[in-house]
Amino acid sequence: MSPGMGLSFTAMNPNSIESTMKESRVFPPDEEFSKHAHIRSMEQYRALYEKSLNDPEAFWGEMADALHWFAPPREILVDERPHARWFVGGTTNIAYNCLDRHLSSLRRNKAAILWEGEPGETRTLTYHQLHREVCRFANVLRKLGVRTGDRVAIYMGMVPEIAVAMLACARIGAPHMVIFGGFAADAVRDRINDSKASLVVTCDGSWRRGQVVPLKAIVDKAIAECPSVRHTVVFKRTGERVNMEPGRDHYWQEVIEAVNANSTPVPVESEHPLFILYTSGTTGKPKGIVHTTGGYMVGTHVTSKYVFDLRENDTYFCTADVGWITGHSYVVYGPLLNGATVLMYEGAPNFPDQGRLWQLCERYGVTIFYTAPTAIRAFMRWGEQWPMKADLSCLRLLGSVGEPINPEAWMWYQRVIGNARCPVVDTWWQTETGAIMLSPLPGATPTKPGSATLPFFGIEADVVRKDGTRCAPNEGGFLVIKRPWPSMARTIYGDDERYQKYFTEIPGVYFTGDGARRDDDGYFWLMGRVDDVLNVAGHRLGTAEIESALVGHRAVAEAAVVGRPDELKGQGLVCFVTLRPGFAATRELKQVLAEHVASEIGRFARPDMVRFADALPKTRSGKIMRRLLKEIAGGGETQGDTTTLEDLSVLAALRASDDE
Ligand code: PRX
Repeated sequence: MSPGMGLSFTAMNPNSIESTMKESRVFPPDEEFSKHAHIRSMEQYRALYEKSLNDPEAFWGEMADALHWFAPPREILVDERPHARWFVGGTTNIAYNCLDRHLSSLRRNKAAILWEGEPGETRTLTYHQLHREVCRFANVLRKLGVRTGDRVAIYMGMVPEIAVAMLACARIGAPHMVIFGGFAADAVRDRINDSKASLVVTCDGSWRRGQVVPLKAIVDKAIAECPSVRHTVVFKRTGERVNMEPGRDHYWQEVIEAVNANSTPVPVESEHPLFILYTSGTTGKPKGIVHTTGGYMVGTHVTSKYVFDLRENDTYFCTADVGWITGHSYVVYGPLLNGATVLMYEGAPNFPDQGRLWQLCERYGVTIFYTAPTAIRAFMRWGEQWPMKADLSCLRLLGSVGEPINPEAWMWYQRVIGNARCPVVDTWWQTETGAIMLSPLPGATPTKPGSATLPFFGIEADVVRKDGTRCAPNEGGFLVIKRPWPSMARTIYGDDERYQKYFTEIPGVYFTGDGARRDDDGYFWLMGRVDDVLNVAGHRLGTAEIESALVGHRAVAEAAVVGRPDELKGQGLVCFVTLRPGFAATRELKQVLAEHVASEIGRFARPDMVRFADALPKTRSGKIMRRLLKEIAGGGETQGDTTTLEDLSVLAALRASDDE
């Protein structure tokens, strides 16, 4: 079965979704693992889960107590759905909790970040050293005029300084807005303009597969059209020659020398915004998801502890880029809140060869490894000989995130990387949820390949029909969350109305946008997105964003973008395009358009296929029938209802269209 399959609206009942996945293997937790785990049995999980739902205030109050508050919360939850406020009246600082809190214990001299650059250099930052760097950079930000509440954009490669920059922002209460280093100048510009960031932290360049990504040059191009930006700070990484505008641009290595390391953290309200992170939705405009301090801190702390079963001597390696939510929650905040040792790797997994990640695991003694199904499928394709060459005996836990994991990939991961002895946690969550929502607890939950299993403490998840009624076991429907949780997004920056849509699609509950089913044991099986959002190689892309990039090209009249199942990436992008008069449908133009999307959004969004059509299938009211295009893109027959199609001949022409 190819990944991403298994989801189709039934012709019989358009209210629910048909699931075609059959998988019956069950793996009970390893006894030895359970003995030492934080949560050791299903009984323990169930008891705590019930408590978390029956008395959420007591449960979350206790979870919050594990962290430092300058003033304790007066109220645990103020539930004014769709808005919720957590730990109200409490003041805290997440950077203080990630760093200062550990300095009075043995963790002071423990490695916080082990880092390896793509070319092979290594660095270690202890908690003490990381704290020092963060304090200094906080002083740099202050000196450059950043005040509590000001937004700071961060567009860097995977160097420790990206974490330093984030934590320094958090220390002074300036919300950070990290932009993934793979985004192109236009996307950088739009995000800066939407958030009105006053300062941009970047690098001269960043290493990727032996090549330099010219980050500062991209920033220059972007901020030429960003009136809010007053300063940039440029961390010298690759030694590129870059343009430095006097008064505006400052080298990190120079400004950091001019400040001391004394910095008092700013106690902020629990609901003070911690960061904005843009993600794709169903319209062309990315949404600035806003997370606040207290709830996000408690959520990432407790999920990291229980899902990864973190212990003091772990070496934890999450391969995600810090530019995505996984990097925020599970490279930086969650592990550091727990005082863990994080391995951070700068570059590509197949540089200089396909054994790089396994070499890293061996050399640093990685115990916990967290990656995405797309990466696992690439590892499978590269072959077992690569992991076999390395000693992976230190590994004790494997995690997966970002897309549905197909059972074959799950089994391979468990057998080849985990040597059939490491638990695999398939964690389901989203940028909006801030922290893991569905996942096995490794010492307690029997796992089934391909299932994210059961909800985390405090999470009331369900699968419902469009009308909100609960689906029967094994009936596919919509994944919803029925009550607020601490790490949930609070709003969309500058567009609260759009935020409220999460709660109106299916009234009264948070709609995730995902299809799912629950089996007879109540296990959740994710079936992919049900809206116009695609998941390509673990990257979330809105079809509307790509369409809007395409119609921005002078040759394009209309565009419709759909996903098709892809063995490696989960989904691939297929673009159907009609041309303006005077443009010929040539192979070259296909290349040009694919490149155009890559240069507008980023290389990771480059379409797999561009198909020209004379017309797109539309309903009589003029709506493009994506379902039909999806079927054509997937190479299948168009089976669904076509009676609303305006012009049937369009379909035949599309099927016959050149699809090289
Ligand atoms: O469709 C789900 C998929 O990724 C979406 C969220 O994407 P993003 O906000 O970019 O966050 C990704 C990292 C948390 C979800 O709506 N998704 C994420 N994890 C899983 C998943 N689908 C199935 N199984 C998962 N474990």
